[in-house]
Amino acid sequence: MNKTVICPGSFDPVTLGHLDIIKRAATMFDRVIVGVLVNSSKTPCFSIEERIEFLKEVTKDMENVEVVSFAGLLAEYCRQRNVDAIVKGLRAVSDFEYEFQMAITNKKLNPHLETIFLMADSDSMYLSSSMVKEVASMGGDISNFVPQCICSRIEKRIAKLQNKED
Ligand code: PNS
Repeated sequence: MNKTVICPGSFDPVTLGHLDIIKRAATMFDRVIVGVLVNSSKTPCFSIEERIEFLKEVTKDMENVEVVSFAGLLAEYCRQRNVDAIVKGLRAVSDFEYEFQMAITNKKLNPHLETIFLMADSDSMYLSSSMVKEVASMGGDISNFVPQCICSRIEKRIAKLQNKED
């Protein structure tokens, strides 16, 4: 059966952990939509356009992956596009309560929508976009945390923001 899933997130910016989950989803399902969405509890550092550009670049060789962005509810978008399931990475236990809450809420809003959790790869267990931004903002090396092809652009962008704040 043809199965479409969505990997939603803020991706501010995309990390190697996100990319690992997208790649694994792309081998398991027919079609993967990567949704760059608004998380109302976070203030992003990168614009939606920048985040989409990074994601398009790092997924360009994956034929069944599409990158989109939309405003509004994830559960509603999934209904409109006949998405079968949400795929998310689960890192340390600390992620669990937040992810569980979102999964239950999305299921209440759209009872056909399942949430599937993939265990984060051991290298990405403690990797997050916030950590990448913090390390980069202090001049640290982020090359082990983000895809190689966008690493210098992320570093430059964060350095520019730092200079503005100084
Ligand atoms: O990477 P994040 O910030 O943990 O991802 C959270 C995200 C963007 C997937 C979540 O905030 C979301 O789904 N936002 C879209 C609006 C929505 O549907 N909110 C209700 C979520 S239960």
